[in-house]
Amino acid sequence: MSTLSEAYKDNPLQLHHIIPLDFHSVQVVPDSHLWPHHDSQDFPSGVTSDGHSSMPSIDLSDPNVVELVGHACQTWGMLQVTNHGVPSSLLDDVESEARRLFSLPAQQKMKTLRSPVGAAGYGSARISPFFSKLMWHEGFTIMGSSLVDHARELWPHDYESFCDVMEDYQKKMKALASRLLLLILKSLDVTEEEMNWAASVHESEGALQLNSYPSCPDPNSAIGLAPHTDSMLITILHQCNTNGLQIFRDGVGWISVSPAAGALLVNVGDLLHIFSNARFPALYHRAVVNQTRHRISVAYFYGPPADSQVKPFVKLECPCYRSLTVKEYVSIKAQHLEQALSLIRI
Ligand code: OGA
Ligand code: NI
Repeated sequence: MSTLSEAYKDNPLQLHHIIPLDFHSVQVVPDSHLWPHHDSQDFPSGVTSDGHSSMPSIDLSDPNVVELVGHACQTWGMLQVTNHGVPSSLLDDVESEARRLFSLPAQQKMKTLRSPVGAAGYGSARISPFFSKLMWHEGFTIMGSSLVDHARELWPHDYESFCDVMEDYQKKMKALASRLLLLILKSLDVTEEEMNWAASVHESEGALQLNSYPSCPDPNSAIGLAPHTDSMLITILHQCNTNGLQIFRDGVGWISVSPAAGALLVNVGDLLHIFSNARFPALYHRAVVNQTRHRISVAYFYGPPADSQVKPFVKLECPCYRSLTVKEYVSIKAQHLEQALSLIRI
């Protein structure tokens, strides 16, 4: 089977778009990281000026869960889930292992630097080349078989706890994502064949992205992650008790989504946007930084295997996206970022 990394081979990155700043070594935001001033505090969560209710929070044991999930995907592109079955001790452990990683000296983290054509390892966000300024962010991507080798580089004598926690977390995320995808497909009234397609999605392991946003001397002039949509079907985000995620609402602007203890966030990605024929729009979002806290977040990206075909579900009268493989889509996204969806419109 082909891998997603192959999609990146044609789009190698330059080193300054891979190597993060050594954030601990700077006292002011350097020009390379200075963005136009923005207000990192705009619109606290739940308080929107458009008169609508706040982002839906859904208890997965609710008898109406299918409708609730479908409605949230359609109107918000995002939902918060509770009663999801992921133990809070594991949520705490994944945060503390991620913190342990990002607290290592820069030269240690650099031993696992992502290759210019690779997907796994330490480095800046993959969307970096599309922006003239760099982001206040460093990441570590776990994908494929890289985990143990990378952990050994980071902690030659003490790598097991990191691997155990990440493997366990990835397994729990995969089970939850698969359950959520079934709910989403049920809400769309797809064919039985398409319901079975969900099982093939389960063959891919997904990717785990650890994000680190060090505290920043001037948070309104820096950006943690620039605005983007996620490429896969759905993302499950663990915000680790620190504000920073903002979502874009038409007619409103950027809204902060505060973390709720024990809850996880789920958002629609590009492949679900395509599959649902834009009924469930991919969520446009960004991360802002703050002056006092080093924020960690953990994102799990769930999508079909790289060589699987994605197209709008069949009961539609006029599909507006063409059929393509996941790998092909990822490659188009790596070259065109935000234009990717419009480039595959029929
Ligand atoms: C991402 C992402 C948001 C956050 O990893 O794609 O959007 O709050 N993260 O860290
Ligand atoms: Ni994202």
